[in-house]
Amino acid sequence: MPVLQVPGRPNTWAAVTETTTYLLSVEEGEEVKVVQWYWGPRLPVAALAEVTLQPARYHGTSFLDPDDIDELLPVDGGRRWGVPSLQATFEGGVRSVELAFERAVESDDELELVLRDAAHGLRVSLHLRCPEGGDVIERWVSVANEGAAAVRLHRLDSGSWVLPARPRHRYTGVYGGWAQETQLQRAELPVGETTFTSRTGTTSHKANPWIMVDAGDATEETGEVWTVALAWSGSWRLTAQRRPEGDVAISAGFGHEGPSWYLTPGDTLETPPALGLHTTGGYGTASRSWHEYARRHVLPHPGELRPVLYNSWEATWFEVTEAGQLDLARRAADLGVELFVVDDGWFGERTDDTRGLGDWWPNPDRFPQGLNGLFDAVRGLGMQAGLWVEPEMVNPDSDLYRKNPDWVLHYPGRRRDTMRNQLVLNFARDDVRAWAVGWLDPLVRDHGLVYLKWDMNRSFTQAGWPGEGERGDLLWIKHTRGVYAVMDELRRRNPGLRIESCSGGGGRVDLGILRRTDQVWTSDNTDARDRQAIQQGYSYLYPAGAMSCWVTDRANAITGRVVPLRYRFHVAMAGTLGIGGDLPEWTAEELAEARELVAAYKEVRHVVQHGRLHRLAGTPGVTASAVQYTLGAEVVVLAYHPYGYNGSVSGRLRLAGLDPDAVYEVVGGDGGPAVPEGSRWHGRTLMSHGLALPTWAPAGPDYRSELLALRRMTS
Ligand code: DGJ
Repeated sequence: MPVLQVPGRPNTWAAVTETTTYLLSVEEGEEVKVVQWYWGPRLPVAALAEVTLQPARYHGTSFLDPDDIDELLPVDGGRRWGVPSLQATFEGGVRSVELAFERAVESDDELELVLRDAAHGLRVSLHLRCPEGGDVIERWVSVANEGAAAVRLHRLDSGSWVLPARPRHRYTGVYGGWAQETQLQRAELPVGETTFTSRTGTTSHKANPWIMVDAGDATEETGEVWTVALAWSGSWRLTAQRRPEGDVAISAGFGHEGPSWYLTPGDTLETPPALGLHTTGGYGTASRSWHEYARRHVLPHPGELRPVLYNSWEATWFEVTEAGQLDLARRAADLGVELFVVDDGWFGERTDDTRGLGDWWPNPDRFPQGLNGLFDAVRGLGMQAGLWVEPEMVNPDSDLYRKNPDWVLHYPGRRRDTMRNQLVLNFARDDVRAWAVGWLDPLVRDHGLVYLKWDMNRSFTQAGWPGEGERGDLLWIKHTRGVYAVMDELRRRNPGLRIESCSGGGGRVDLGILRRTDQVWTSDNTDARDRQAIQQGYSYLYPAGAMSCWVTDRANAITGRVVPLRYRFHVAMAGTLGIGGDLPEWTAEELAEARELVAAYKEVRHVVQHGRLHRLAGTPGVTASAVQYTLGAEVVVLAYHPYGYNGSVSGRLRLAGLDPDAVYEVVGGDGGPAVPEGSRWHGRTLMSHGLALPTWAPAGPDYRSELLALRRMTS
């Protein structure tokens, strides 16, 4: 039933999700428009035939606005002056796209509307799909140049989403930078066009391709929220247009202003999906729905538990030796670590960041016998083995670059700007992708690797593809799809392989990369307090099970802030726990405490990694705050209080999402000074009056934190 023809109404369809309806039709007047009529709480399907579809806008005088905002794919053409989702130049400099409706192709969960600009042979298909369960609607567009001349597309978004008029609208999203990713921002959406974008060639640290919009009245657990996300890992652009009349259209797609897509006759181009979701349950429900969608339809191995890993980067930086790594591995195994990952510095001449990228063989001085001596020992210690790679990059000082200087993004006669002393390999090229699979596959297979940390440490510059002429800009799309293709092929050949997406921390986190990776490196900033804010912003879209979090050293490598081990652990336990510290420097007491905390995490990680998240309260990293995960009868709470004194909080933490009539019992935690095991309360009490936690007491030492596990006893 998810996508159905509305009875009695020609060319009208309803996409019906678990709790919402999305209503659209093809309107064939002088100008064909695919119009969105409704997106909100579920309508009774049988009644749809009875209701009047009222045009949202008025016509008549020339300066009263036309209804361009209500279209699924507003084109640049005709009587439209809003944000175009499709903008093209045809032969002879002709613009103004004019589409006619050809046909609808329907299946149970998918609808394709085929339109055509007959004069220039441009076929445009609008796709809509309702994946099973949940409220996410997937939409994308494919175009085909079936004409005799080339077409240049200046903008081809996955589609526009329309929100009904309200006196005000407010947006929520994230901005950031290196080591300060996913900072939450919430502000009034002004009348005008607000664009969020990445021009870096990757998802970027600066913004993330999603938005939530409400009428200024939503809270964490109540209120209408409309949200759109783009499943794409290259440059992107999302424009929220609030019109003076009070409605909002959100157009999202790949690319950014400047580059254009040149389609010669016979060429086709498909956009990544833009995903829409509506809820009446506030930001928290929106996030939980996104997490559920990621688990059901995006992540390749959603049912697996992520192992506790150790990563050597902050311990050794580029000083990688076989003996040093083995020493770390022994210490990591002793803490209960399950996966040992060797980071940068193991290959070619890579003894610092000036050379060796691209030369993917073990550094002969550091690993004279190859890597298997180390990895066999790692396996002997009961851990699995993983390795850092950065396949899309090359140092000019490398054998690879000396041999293939044309493999990088470049324009003839222009500089080749380096960043971190490296250039970007053009993964749009067949030979570059073949080379990548050619070394990655044996690297994984011959070393029994179960894990690759796939890094990407710079943005595009001089993004040319010589030889491709007018089509060169397509590399912005084809590079990303090339990376996807290499990952997909590698995973196909090595089904046991799991991949972590990294881009100088969290520069490539999105629902496109998560389709072929299992977790992401959230940020290079492992300072627990900074990290709380980063993790909160991350949690708006992405599930905790895909969020890599390391516990690093006492004084943080980036900020120098000193935070107790227990607090650092509790922050990292809110996602997929890892350890990234210089273990030989840890005291015996720290190691003993770490061992206990790793064991405590293993007890609850299924709930954290697979459960429903409630952001309970507070400003993470600043005030008392807490997160809760619920899976079936099990509830896990992580509570934090970074400051010693805060008289303004009640000291009681209210839980959420429980069965009000059930009794919940404290069944564990990490042995800290929490509420004693065996304590029992009704769900109603826990949600209404809350728990008095030592961590939340108004006065006490800095950096109090605790883990609490409860179980539903009756219902
Ligand atoms: C950037 C990553 O975010 C770090 O964790 C580390 O892997 C370095 N690159 C290695 O060069």
